[in-house]
Amino acid sequence: MSLQGKHIVLGISGSIAAYKSASLARLLIKKGAEVKIVITPAGKQFITPITMSALTGNPVESDFFSSNDGSWHSHVDMGMWADLMVVAPATASTIGKMAHGIADNLLVTTYLSMKSPVFLAPSMDLDMFKHPSTQRNLDILKKDGVHIIDATSGELASHLEGKGRMEEPENIVKKLEEYFQISFSLNTKKILITAGPTYERIDPVRFIGNFSSGKMGFALAEECASRGAEVILVCGPTPLSISNKLIRRIDVESAQQMYEVCLKVFPEVDAAILSAAVADYRPEHTYGQKMKRSDHENLTITLTPNPDIAAALGKIKKPNQLLVGFALETNDEDKNALSKMEKKNFDFIILNSLNEEGAGFGLDTNKITIFSRNGNKKSFELKLKKELAKDILNHVFG
Ligand code: CTP
Repeated sequence: MSLQGKHIVLGISGSIAAYKSASLARLLIKKGAEVKIVITPAGKQFITPITMSALTGNPVESDFFSSNDGSWHSHVDMGMWADLMVVAPATASTIGKMAHGIADNLLVTTYLSMKSPVFLAPSMDLDMFKHPSTQRNLDILKKDGVHIIDATSGELASHLEGKGRMEEPENIVKKLEEYFQISFSLNTKKILITAGPTYERIDPVRFIGNFSSGKMGFALAEECASRGAEVILVCGPTPLSISNKLIRRIDVESAQQMYEVCLKVFPEVDAAILSAAVADYRPEHTYGQKMKRSDHENLTITLTPNPDIAAALGKIKKPNQLLVGFALETNDEDKNALSKMEKKNFDFIILNSLNEEGAGFGLDTNKITIFSRNGNKKSFELKLKKELAKDILNHVFG
């Protein structure tokens, strides 16, 4: 029972779907969770605090201060107490306030104080739901690490048909259960991830690089963090952004810089996943001034090898540490991947093939095969890199 003993804060805002919060609270309690309610002033117009406190056995919080004795209702305590917060229903207004930190009610201050994962289930009319403003705010929250339980389609309170219905309480409970089932395996883990390309300077305006986008590494970092792991993401130049507070991002430019950071950080992590496309060579000499065309009839740049980060980590790896590498091969894929795993002392190697349409650099999708040191081989179909990140973590840590 993954909800057994869990502390759940259920936030209720002012939507007609608030009547479903009563069944949601009941279902959570039936599964063994303890539930505390925080409700917005508008929420109280739709469902009474008396109903919710009778169902949960806990007082319902809504005001900053008690009207009886002026004592403070601490959203900070609630943030510390909770294993998870779910806002259901979440109106357009509450979503907007959460996205922009407009802390004018106890639900939003509780959200801002929350130390645990936050889920929300939108509920509103179809035009409000598809309005660019609502969608923008949902995107902001997603980037902030909030899990959005998508609205469903059907008849709405306005009698219009469309998308905007709050997901049914049974399905919300299922999503929360799934989260707890998968999340705890990484809850106490610290994970190093390398991502993106490296740039090797030729002169102040030119470099040798590669087409890596960093998308796979960033998806892995997001997925590790959403399962509660502390992540150190060491990335080469990439326009991608990340905002989950469990991810510490360290930007580097060259292979040498990535090597230095990784070697320093590796002893303190439980696992390292090396998805960066590290340049194997750098110019032996970096020019201090921009090279002029007129200075060279023909130009030869001598390259010197970069350190192999993976091999260096493989050498110092302790038995309780996990090292996962990637391989990008164009021929003899399995054979090359297996010998790379051996050579670099990886526990797992993830092969992605450039021969597959829809797989590889810069794309949102990829097709991979994971080989493990104990001889296992598992192939996955072409999928979004975000989905593959889940598969990789389930396989490697499962
Ligand atoms: N890697 C690394 N440091 C390097 C080169 C590679 O950490 N200097 C890591 C990559 O992040 C990846 C794995 O090693 O996880 C394999 O990378 P790849 O470029 O395929 O390996 P190479 O050893 O460079 O082999 P190849 O000759 O095929 O390029």
